Amino acid sequence: MGKTADVVAWAPGRINVIGGHTDYNGGLALPGAINRWISVALHARSDDSIRVRSLDFGGELTGTAESVRPTDASWSRFVAGCLAVFGERVALPSGFDAVFTGDVPDGAGLSSSAALSVAWMTALREWTGAPIDDLDLVRMAQAVEHRFLGVKCGLLDQIGSLMATPGGLLLVDFQSLTVAPVKVGLTDIRWVVLHSGVRRELASSSYLDRVDECAEGLLRVQQRDPSIRTVRDVTPDVLEPDRIGERRLRHVLSENARVLRAVQAVEAGDAETLGVILGEAHASLRDDYEVSCAQLDWLVESASRHPGCYGARMVGGGFGGCTLNLVRADQTESFIESTLSAYRSRCSETPRSFAFDLVAGADANSF
Ligand code: GLA
Repeated sequence: MGKTADVVAWAPGRINVIGGHTDYNGGLALPGAINRWISVALHARSDDSIRVRSLDFGGELTGTAESVRPTDASWSRFVAGCLAVFGERVALPSGFDAVFTGDVPDGAGLSSSAALSVAWMTALREWTGAPIDDLDLVRMAQAVEHRFLGVKCGLLDQIGSLMATPGGLLLVDFQSLTVAPVKVGLTDIRWVVLHSGVRRELASSSYLDRVDECAEGLLRVQQRDPSIRTVRDVTPDVLEPDRIGERRLRHVLSENARVLRAVQAVEAGDAETLGVILGEAHASLRDDYEVSCAQLDWLVESASRHPGCYGARMVGGGFGGCTLNLVRADQTESFIESTLSAYRSRCSETPRSFAFDLVAGADANSF
């Protein structure tokens, strides 16, 4: 850009300790933000031209607030979407030049896409000074996914990326949209992410299938019992789990209960119990929700056999991406090394790993 930034904004990727596929079902989850970020630097112009470059992927998005259209670069759909959705709320004061960069692995289930749209929304909010509160901002970032990417996601990723607290987790209730900080009492542990090397981009259509199956499951239950309004009114005994939609709901109900047990274990510093709960969550995602894959199952099983690992589960949308592992701090290296070398000898995909810290949500500065 060769200019000084007027605004710099950054948004982290997120991890979800537990609460998989509960967000669009009005359930519970326990996300936190990880020390991988996407940052946007923006310099206001005196005319109405907009020019955005990705430092990592190349390509340029150009035009004005009215004319900007996505190009072939997949990132441009997010950025053009952010400009359109934000522009519907607040007129931009002028054009701008901007660049962005980041280190959130993409296609990994760590929400690089939410980090991208939350970083952009945060930059635009900071620049315009618009009175948009955090819940509004996450809804706007979600609208970008719905309208410009065709992914009917819930709010988990956006809330994790924007509202997380340093060192802590968030108990999110997606029915009441309340977000409560959870203190992490665990000591001598590391959160380790293992990337299966299976990209999960193609998963969006199966993701949409799950959204539809749950809606259909709820409808069936409501036909049998009209007093049921939402998934939260459903109890396991009314489900007929040989029907796909109701089996999906069985996962959501059991997962909501696990989230509450996990919160207690996290606060009490009980890594053993939390590890068991993670394993149960994985089994439910694999069997009732059917969003795992052979590589993720292998990673989870192998991790659970390692003496340094309390428990593991797949994270994110599924069908690839990463597992989350709760590991004894002093065995982190040996855990990663032995699990990944065994994985390499069995699977053709190239795995990756990192241990992360829980960090604060997105923020911005003006200069
Ligand atoms: C993806 C979606 C989220 C959530 C998770 C599964 O990350 O974007 O909204 O549904 O999958 O928990």
